[in-house]
Amino acid sequence: MDAETVLTTTRSVRRKLDFDREVPQSVLDDCLRIAQQAPAAGSMAAQFRWLLVRDAGAKAEIARYNRETAEASWAKYGHLVEKRALESAQYLVRNLERVPVLAIPCMIGRPPADTFSQSAYFGSAYPAIWSFQLALRARGLGSSICGYHLQDHEADVAAVLGIPDDVQQISLLAVAYTTQRDFRPAARPGLATTVYFDTWERTAPDA
Ligand SMILES: Cc1cc2nc3c(=O)[nH]c(=O)nc-3n(C[C@H](O)[C@H](O)[C@H](O)COP(=O)(O)O)c2cc1C
Repeated sequence: MDAETVLTTTRSVRRKLDFDREVPQSVLDDCLRIAQQAPAAGSMAAQFRWLLVRDAGAKAEIARYNRETAEASWAKYGHLVEKRALESAQYLVRNLERVPVLAIPCMIGRPPADTFSQSAYFGSAYPAIWSFQLALRARGLGSSICGYHLQDHEADVAAVLGIPDDVQQISLLAVAYTTQRDFRPAARPGLATTVYFDTWERTAPDA
């Protein structure tokens, strides 16, 4: 798969995850090694960790906490979400314990308060997370971020997994082989409405 295809067809896969196909650790190791090549701000790279969860009991507990927050949020705000996207998210959340691997990227140290340091903090995690997702896609696996529990059950999940108090779970990714190989680029807003030139909201470059 060429780079452009991987970059444009790596979707959040929720309904097309193969819950029954084993994910070898060697495949994950390859993807994690690729993710380690992502950029990180200064010393932040040394603070970044992955926690891979395969244990059925732990996954069930994480899924329960994730579901609790998600269902409460959908009860309040579900009507604001596009139907297809909502149903897709609900499918994954309601089946999270069936996903072969839950990958939790973590940062040692809690998020800083100022925006400059926040940028370095979260910006040192997401390039690696995305590289991991791309590398999975190139190997026939898929993933979706599913971090609802972070809202009010992060500490509960930390207790399940023995994560120390000073470690932040950045996110949670469901990881599995996908039941189909072909995914398409998604509809996105055009450049005309999202790119400005020289000054804010100037939508065309100098002639
Ligand atoms: C920081 C971040 C958090 C996200 N959290 C969730 C989540 O909790 N649940 C979920 O279903 N998708 C989550 N997503 C995935 C987005 O919903 C997804 O990228 C979006 O629906 C676009 O779909 P696509 O990735 O297939 O293009 C998250 C994505 C990002 C970047």
